[in-house]
Amino acid sequence: MATITSDLAGNSQIYDRKSELKNFDESKVGVQGLVENGVTKVPRMFHCEQSNINDLSISESNLKLSIPTIDLTGIHDDPLLRDEVVRKVQNASEKWGFFQVINHGIPTHILDEMIKGTCRFHQQDAKARKEYYTRDLTKKVVYLSNFTLYQDQSADWRDTLAFFWEPHPPKAEELPKVCSDIVSEYSKEVKALGYSLFELLSEALGLNRFHLKEMGGAEKFFLLCHYYPPCPEPELTIGTTKHTDGSFMTILLQDHVGGLQVLHDNQWVDVPPSHGALVVNIGDLLKIVSNDKFTSVQHRVLAKHAGPRISIASLFRAHESEGMPKVIGPIKELLSKENLPIYRDTSLKEFLAHRFTNGIGFSALSTNRL
Ligand code: OGA
Ligand code: NI
Repeated sequence: MATITSDLAGNSQIYDRKSELKNFDESKVGVQGLVENGVTKVPRMFHCEQSNINDLSISESNLKLSIPTIDLTGIHDDPLLRDEVVRKVQNASEKWGFFQVINHGIPTHILDEMIKGTCRFHQQDAKARKEYYTRDLTKKVVYLSNFTLYQDQSADWRDTLAFFWEPHPPKAEELPKVCSDIVSEYSKEVKALGYSLFELLSEALGLNRFHLKEMGGAEKFFLLCHYYPPCPEPELTIGTTKHTDGSFMTILLQDHVGGLQVLHDNQWVDVPPSHGALVVNIGDLLKIVSNDKFTSVQHRVLAKHAGPRISIASLFRAHESEGMPKVIGPIKELLSKENLPIYRDTSLKEFLAHRFTNGIGFSALSTNRL
Protein backbone atom coordinates (compact mmCIF):
# COMPACT_ATOMS: atom_id res chain seq x y z
CA MET A 1 0.00 0.00 0.00
CA ALA A 2 1.27 3.47 -0.82
CA THR A 3 1.52 5.93 2.03
CA ILE A 4 1.98 9.67 1.79
CA THR A 5 4.78 10.95 3.95
CA SER A 6 6.57 14.25 4.35
CA ASP A 7 10.28 14.74 4.01
CA LEU A 8 12.25 17.14 6.21
CA ALA A 9 11.35 20.11 4.00
CA GLY A 10 7.67 19.21 4.38
CA ASN A 11 7.24 17.98 0.81
CA SER A 12 4.80 15.15 0.43
CA GLN A 13 6.02 12.06 -1.32
CA ILE A 14 4.40 8.80 -2.22
CA TYR A 15 6.13 5.88 -0.60
CA ASP A 16 5.19 2.35 -1.51
CA ARG A 17 7.07 0.32 1.07
CA LYS A 18 5.81 -3.06 -0.03
CA SER A 19 7.06 -2.72 -3.58
CA GLU A 20 10.38 -1.30 -2.41
CA LEU A 21 10.84 -4.39 -0.22
CA LYS A 22 9.76 -6.69 -3.02
CA ASN A 23 12.10 -5.15 -5.59
CA PHE A 24 14.97 -5.37 -3.15
CA ASP A 25 14.20 -8.98 -2.23
CA GLU A 26 13.77 -10.01 -5.86
CA SER A 27 17.18 -8.58 -6.74
CA LYS A 28 18.54 -11.56 -4.70
CA VAL A 29 21.84 -9.81 -4.08
CA GLY A 30 21.17 -8.12 -0.76
CA VAL A 31 22.51 -4.85 0.59
CA GLN A 32 25.84 -5.73 -0.99
CA GLY A 33 24.05 -5.53 -4.35
CA LEU A 34 23.09 -1.90 -3.61
CA VAL A 35 26.67 -1.11 -2.66
CA GLU A 36 27.99 -2.76 -5.82
CA ASN A 37 25.66 -0.49 -7.78
CA GLY A 38 27.23 2.54 -6.12
CA VAL A 39 24.42 3.52 -3.76
CA THR A 40 25.12 6.93 -2.16
CA LYS A 41 21.87 7.32 -0.20
CA VAL A 42 20.31 4.80 2.15
CA PRO A 43 16.98 3.77 0.55
CA ARG A 44 13.87 4.58 2.54
CA MET A 45 13.09 0.96 3.48
CA PHE A 46 16.24 0.94 5.67
CA HIS A 47 15.45 4.18 7.50
CA CYS A 48 14.83 3.36 11.12
CA GLU A 49 13.24 5.32 13.90
CA GLN A 50 15.92 7.57 15.30
CA SER A 51 15.02 6.20 18.71
CA ASN A 52 16.39 2.87 17.53
CA ILE A 53 19.84 4.45 17.37
CA ASN A 54 19.71 7.27 19.88
CA ASP A 55 17.38 6.00 22.59
CA LEU A 56 20.12 5.60 25.12
CA SER A 57 23.41 7.36 24.70
CA ILE A 58 26.62 6.24 26.27
CA SER A 59 27.97 8.64 28.83
CA GLU A 60 31.68 8.99 29.60
CA SER A 61 31.68 6.68 32.59
CA ASN A 62 30.12 3.79 30.74
CA LEU A 63 32.91 3.68 28.23
CA LYS A 64 34.84 2.01 31.02
CA LEU A 65 32.27 -0.76 31.40
CA SER A 66 32.85 -3.95 29.49
CA ILE A 67 31.46 -7.46 29.40
CA PRO A 68 33.44 -9.98 31.51
CA THR A 69 36.27 -11.95 29.90
CA ILE A 70 36.61 -15.57 31.00
CA ASP A 71 39.77 -17.63 30.43
CA LEU A 72 38.75 -21.24 29.73
CA THR A 73 42.22 -22.66 30.39
CA GLY A 74 42.03 -25.91 32.36
CA ILE A 75 38.30 -26.64 32.05
CA HIS A 76 38.95 -30.14 30.70
CA ASP A 77 41.72 -31.25 33.05
CA ASP A 78 41.99 -29.06 36.14
CA PRO A 79 39.03 -29.35 38.56
CA LEU A 80 40.06 -26.29 40.56
CA LEU A 81 40.35 -24.04 37.52
CA ARG A 82 37.10 -25.49 36.22
CA ASP A 83 35.23 -24.60 39.42
CA GLU A 84 36.54 -21.08 39.14
CA VAL A 85 35.36 -20.84 35.52
CA VAL A 86 31.90 -22.15 36.50
CA ARG A 87 31.65 -19.41 39.12
CA LYS A 88 32.61 -16.75 36.58
CA VAL A 89 30.20 -18.12 33.98
CA GLN A 90 27.44 -18.01 36.59
CA ASN A 91 28.22 -14.45 37.56
CA ALA A 92 28.42 -13.23 33.96
CA SER A 93 25.23 -15.07 32.94
CA GLU A 94 23.31 -13.58 35.85
CA LYS A 95 24.58 -10.02 35.60
CA TRP A 96 25.36 -9.45 31.92
CA GLY A 97 23.97 -12.32 29.85
CA PHE A 98 27.13 -11.76 27.79
CA PHE A 99 30.79 -12.65 28.21
CA GLN A 100 33.90 -13.05 26.13
CA VAL A 101 35.94 -16.27 26.21
CA ILE A 102 39.68 -16.66 25.58
CA ASN A 103 41.81 -19.81 25.47
CA HIS A 104 38.67 -21.57 24.28
CA GLY A 105 40.57 -24.13 22.22
CA ILE A 106 39.69 -22.96 18.68
CA PRO A 107 42.91 -21.94 16.91
CA THR A 108 43.00 -18.28 15.85
CA HIS A 109 43.86 -19.19 12.25
CA ILE A 110 40.54 -21.04 11.99
CA LEU A 111 38.67 -17.97 13.25
CA ASP A 112 40.53 -15.72 10.79
CA GLU A 113 39.86 -18.06 7.89
CA MET A 114 36.16 -18.27 8.79
CA ILE A 115 35.91 -14.49 8.58
CA LYS A 116 37.74 -14.54 5.23
CA GLY A 117 35.53 -17.35 3.90
CA THR A 118 32.38 -15.40 4.83
CA CYS A 119 33.85 -12.35 3.10
CA ARG A 120 34.60 -14.37 -0.05
CA PHE A 121 31.00 -15.55 -0.25
CA HIS A 122 29.45 -12.10 0.11
CA GLN A 123 31.96 -10.47 -2.24
CA GLN A 124 31.80 -13.02 -5.03
CA ASP A 125 30.03 -12.31 -8.26
CA ALA A 126 26.37 -11.32 -7.82
CA LYS A 127 25.35 -14.09 -10.19
CA ALA A 128 26.97 -16.74 -7.99
CA ARG A 129 25.37 -15.33 -4.81
CA LYS A 130 21.90 -15.28 -6.38
CA GLU A 131 21.92 -19.07 -6.67
CA TYR A 132 21.73 -19.30 -2.88
CA TYR A 133 19.22 -16.51 -2.22
CA THR A 134 16.01 -17.91 -0.71
CA ARG A 135 13.45 -17.44 2.07
CA ASP A 136 12.83 -21.16 2.24
CA LEU A 137 14.12 -21.98 5.72
CA THR A 138 13.79 -25.72 5.19
CA LYS A 139 16.92 -25.40 3.01
CA LYS A 140 20.27 -26.18 4.68
CA VAL A 141 22.10 -23.27 3.08
CA VAL A 142 20.25 -19.95 2.91
CA TYR A 143 21.50 -16.59 1.64
CA LEU A 144 19.20 -13.64 2.28
CA SER A 145 18.96 -10.14 3.59
CA ASN A 146 16.87 -9.71 6.78
CA PHE A 147 15.08 -12.88 7.95
CA THR A 148 11.92 -10.93 8.84
CA LEU A 149 12.14 -8.34 6.02
CA TYR A 150 8.37 -8.11 5.52
CA GLN A 151 7.50 -8.03 9.24
CA ASP A 152 10.03 -5.49 10.49
CA GLN A 153 9.37 -1.75 10.64
CA SER A 154 12.66 -1.07 8.89
CA ALA A 155 15.25 -3.26 7.22
CA ASP A 156 18.74 -3.74 8.67
CA TRP A 157 21.86 -2.84 6.68
CA ARG A 158 23.03 -6.46 6.63
CA ASP A 159 23.08 -9.65 4.55
CA THR A 160 23.34 -13.18 5.94
CA LEU A 161 24.50 -16.59 4.77
CA ALA A 162 23.03 -19.28 7.05
CA PHE A 163 24.05 -22.91 7.48
CA PHE A 164 21.59 -25.17 9.30
CA TRP A 165 24.00 -27.72 10.67
CA GLU A 166 22.23 -29.86 13.27
CA PRO A 167 20.24 -32.10 13.48
CA HIS A 168 20.81 -32.82 9.74
CA PRO A 169 23.92 -31.22 8.24
CA PRO A 170 24.12 -30.09 4.62
CA LYS A 171 25.93 -32.37 2.20
CA ALA A 172 29.40 -31.25 1.13
CA GLU A 173 28.15 -30.47 -2.38
CA GLU A 174 25.44 -28.16 -1.01
CA LEU A 175 28.05 -25.83 0.50
CA PRO A 176 29.24 -22.82 -1.53
CA LYS A 177 32.68 -23.64 -2.95
CA VAL A 178 34.28 -20.35 -1.86
CA CYS A 179 33.92 -21.25 1.82
CA SER A 180 33.00 -24.96 2.06
CA ASP A 181 36.17 -26.25 3.74
CA ILE A 182 36.39 -23.59 6.40
CA VAL A 183 32.66 -23.66 7.16
CA SER A 184 32.87 -27.41 7.82
CA GLU A 185 35.96 -27.02 9.97
CA TYR A 186 34.67 -24.04 11.95
CA SER A 187 31.30 -25.71 12.55
CA LYS A 188 32.98 -28.77 14.01
CA GLU A 189 35.12 -26.64 16.34
CA VAL A 190 32.41 -24.26 17.47
CA LYS A 191 29.97 -27.11 18.08
CA ALA A 192 32.47 -28.80 20.42
CA LEU A 193 33.05 -25.50 22.23
CA GLY A 194 29.29 -25.02 22.47
CA TYR A 195 28.85 -28.41 24.12
CA SER A 196 31.60 -27.57 26.66
CA LEU A 197 29.86 -24.28 27.43
CA PHE A 198 26.53 -26.10 27.88
CA GLU A 199 28.24 -28.21 30.55
CA LEU A 200 29.64 -25.14 32.30
CA LEU A 201 26.25 -23.41 32.13
CA SER A 202 24.50 -26.51 33.57
CA GLU A 203 26.91 -26.53 36.49
CA ALA A 204 26.54 -22.78 36.90
CA LEU A 205 22.81 -23.41 37.44
CA GLY A 206 23.64 -26.04 40.06
CA LEU A 207 22.53 -28.87 37.78
CA ASN A 208 24.21 -32.04 36.61
CA ARG A 209 26.87 -31.22 34.01
CA PHE A 210 24.88 -32.78 31.15
CA HIS A 211 21.46 -31.43 32.07
CA LEU A 212 21.07 -28.70 29.43
CA LYS A 213 22.36 -30.91 26.65
CA GLU A 214 20.26 -33.89 27.73
CA MET A 215 17.11 -31.78 27.75
CA GLY A 216 17.83 -31.10 24.07
CA GLY A 217 19.02 -27.50 24.39
CA ALA A 218 21.69 -27.98 21.72
CA GLU A 219 19.85 -30.25 19.28
CA LYS A 220 19.58 -27.52 16.70
CA PHE A 221 22.77 -25.77 15.72
CA PHE A 222 23.18 -23.22 12.96
CA LEU A 223 25.58 -20.56 11.76
CA LEU A 224 24.58 -17.06 10.66
CA CYS A 225 27.44 -15.56 8.64
CA HIS A 226 26.65 -11.85 8.61
CA TYR A 227 28.03 -9.24 6.24
CA TYR A 228 27.55 -5.54 7.03
CA PRO A 229 28.51 -3.55 3.93
CA PRO A 230 29.95 -0.04 4.40
CA CYS A 231 27.03 2.36 4.79
CA PRO A 232 26.87 5.80 3.07
CA GLU A 233 24.53 7.32 5.71
CA PRO A 234 24.98 5.28 8.92
CA GLU A 235 22.98 7.76 10.99
CA LEU A 236 19.78 6.82 9.11
CA THR A 237 19.85 3.07 9.61
CA ILE A 238 21.23 0.25 11.74
CA GLY A 239 23.26 -2.92 11.12
CA THR A 240 21.16 -5.09 13.43
CA THR A 241 18.08 -3.79 15.24
CA LYS A 242 18.12 -4.29 19.00
CA HIS A 243 16.94 -7.78 19.86
CA THR A 244 17.46 -10.73 22.16
CA ASP A 245 18.43 -14.11 20.70
CA GLY A 246 15.81 -16.86 20.43
CA SER A 247 18.48 -19.44 21.22
CA PHE A 248 19.63 -21.23 24.38
CA MET A 249 23.08 -19.81 23.75
CA THR A 250 24.94 -18.02 20.96
CA ILE A 251 28.69 -17.93 20.25
CA LEU A 252 29.73 -14.91 18.20
CA LEU A 253 32.90 -14.40 16.20
CA GLN A 254 33.39 -10.78 15.09
CA ASP A 255 36.10 -9.21 12.95
CA HIS A 256 38.10 -6.07 13.83
CA VAL A 257 35.54 -3.43 12.72
CA GLY A 258 33.30 -3.19 15.82
CA GLY A 259 29.78 -1.81 16.24
CA LEU A 260 28.26 -4.47 18.51
CA GLN A 261 26.66 -3.07 21.67
CA VAL A 262 24.86 -4.73 24.57
CA LEU A 263 22.33 -3.19 26.91
CA HIS A 264 23.55 -3.21 30.50
CA ASP A 265 21.89 -1.25 33.33
CA ASN A 266 19.99 0.76 30.71
CA GLN A 267 23.15 1.81 28.87
CA TRP A 268 24.55 0.64 25.57
CA VAL A 269 27.99 -0.81 26.17
CA ASP A 270 30.43 -1.46 23.30
CA VAL A 271 31.79 -4.96 22.80
CA PRO A 272 35.15 -4.06 21.28
CA PRO A 273 36.67 -6.66 18.96
CA SER A 274 39.40 -8.77 20.54
CA HIS A 275 41.41 -10.87 18.11
CA GLY A 276 41.13 -14.59 18.94
CA ALA A 277 38.32 -14.15 21.47
CA LEU A 278 34.70 -15.27 21.08
CA VAL A 279 31.61 -13.60 22.52
CA VAL A 280 29.04 -15.82 24.27
CA ASN A 281 25.51 -14.77 25.10
CA ILE A 282 22.49 -16.26 26.80
CA GLY A 283 19.34 -16.49 24.66
CA ASP A 284 15.66 -16.24 25.62
CA LEU A 285 15.23 -20.02 25.88
CA LEU A 286 17.91 -20.38 28.54
CA LYS A 287 16.46 -17.39 30.38
CA ILE A 288 13.09 -19.16 30.43
CA VAL A 289 14.33 -22.61 31.48
CA SER A 290 16.55 -21.07 34.17
CA ASN A 291 13.44 -19.24 35.48
CA ASP A 292 15.19 -15.89 35.05
CA LYS A 293 18.34 -16.88 36.94
CA PHE A 294 20.23 -16.15 33.74
CA THR A 295 19.48 -13.08 31.70
CA SER A 296 19.08 -12.69 27.96
CA VAL A 297 19.92 -9.10 27.09
CA GLN A 298 19.25 -6.84 24.16
CA HIS A 299 22.06 -6.13 21.76
CA ARG A 300 22.43 -4.38 18.40
CA VAL A 301 24.98 -3.53 15.74
CA LEU A 302 25.46 0.06 14.57
CA ALA A 303 25.83 0.79 10.85
CA LYS A 304 29.14 2.41 9.90
CA HIS A 305 30.93 4.16 7.05
CA ALA A 306 33.76 1.72 7.67
CA GLY A 307 33.35 -1.77 6.40
CA PRO A 308 32.48 -4.33 5.49
CA ARG A 309 32.07 -5.81 8.97
CA ILE A 310 31.83 -9.57 9.25
CA SER A 311 30.49 -11.64 12.11
CA ILE A 312 29.50 -15.26 12.53
CA ALA A 313 26.82 -16.10 15.08
CA SER A 314 26.52 -19.79 16.05
CA LEU A 315 23.16 -20.49 17.65
CA PHE A 316 22.24 -23.51 19.77
CA ARG A 317 18.66 -24.29 20.62
CA ALA A 318 16.13 -27.07 21.06
CA HIS A 319 14.69 -28.78 18.01
CA GLU A 320 11.14 -29.89 17.37
CA SER A 321 10.37 -32.42 14.69
CA GLU A 322 6.91 -32.85 13.17
CA GLY A 323 4.47 -34.35 15.68
CA MET A 324 7.02 -34.22 18.54
CA PRO A 325 6.32 -31.00 20.43
CA LYS A 326 9.13 -29.77 22.62
CA VAL A 327 7.98 -28.26 25.89
CA ILE A 328 9.81 -25.14 26.99
CA GLY A 329 9.41 -24.05 30.59
CA PRO A 330 11.38 -23.57 33.81
CA ILE A 331 13.48 -26.62 34.77
CA LYS A 332 11.64 -28.47 37.54
CA GLU A 333 14.83 -29.13 39.55
CA LEU A 334 15.31 -25.37 39.94
CA LEU A 335 11.84 -24.69 41.31
CA SER A 336 10.81 -24.57 44.95
CA LYS A 337 8.43 -22.70 47.24
CA GLU A 338 10.90 -19.84 47.19
CA ASN A 339 11.42 -20.06 43.45
CA LEU A 340 8.02 -20.40 41.80
CA PRO A 341 7.81 -20.65 38.01
CA ILE A 342 7.79 -17.28 36.23
CA TYR A 343 6.91 -18.74 32.82
CA ARG A 344 4.21 -21.12 31.67
CA ASP A 345 5.16 -24.21 29.71
CA THR A 346 4.87 -23.61 26.00
CA SER A 347 5.83 -25.45 22.85
CA LEU A 348 8.95 -24.43 21.00
CA LYS A 349 6.81 -24.01 17.90
CA GLU A 350 4.61 -21.43 19.62
CA PHE A 351 7.65 -19.60 20.98
CA LEU A 352 9.27 -19.36 17.56
CA ALA A 353 6.02 -18.41 15.80
CA HIS A 354 5.79 -15.25 17.90
CA ARG A 355 9.26 -14.18 16.88
CA PHE A 356 8.58 -14.71 13.21
CA THR A 357 5.25 -12.92 13.08
CA ASN A 358 6.43 -9.99 15.16
CA GLY A 359 9.85 -9.34 13.64
CA ILE A 360 13.45 -9.15 14.83
CA GLY A 361 12.97 -6.88 17.83
CA PHE A 362 10.25 -9.03 19.36
CA SER A 363 10.98 -11.12 22.42
CA ALA A 364 8.47 -13.84 23.28
CA LEU A 365 9.37 -13.64 26.96
CA SER A 366 6.47 -11.41 27.93
CA THR A 367 4.00 -13.66 26.10
CA ASN A 368 5.16 -16.66 28.11
CA ARG A 369 5.24 -14.94 31.46
CA LEU A 370 2.76 -16.32 34.00
C1 OGA B 1 22.82 -12.19 15.94
C2 OGA B 1 23.63 -11.02 16.40
C3 OGA B 1 25.60 -9.66 16.23
C4 OGA B 1 26.69 -9.36 15.27
O1 OGA B 1 23.14 -12.75 14.90
O2 OGA B 1 21.86 -12.53 16.66
O3 OGA B 1 23.27 -10.42 17.38
O4 OGA B 1 27.71 -8.83 15.72
N1 OGA B 1 24.73 -10.68 15.73
O5 OGA B 1 26.52 -9.62 14.09
NI1 NI C 1 21.82 -11.55 18.46
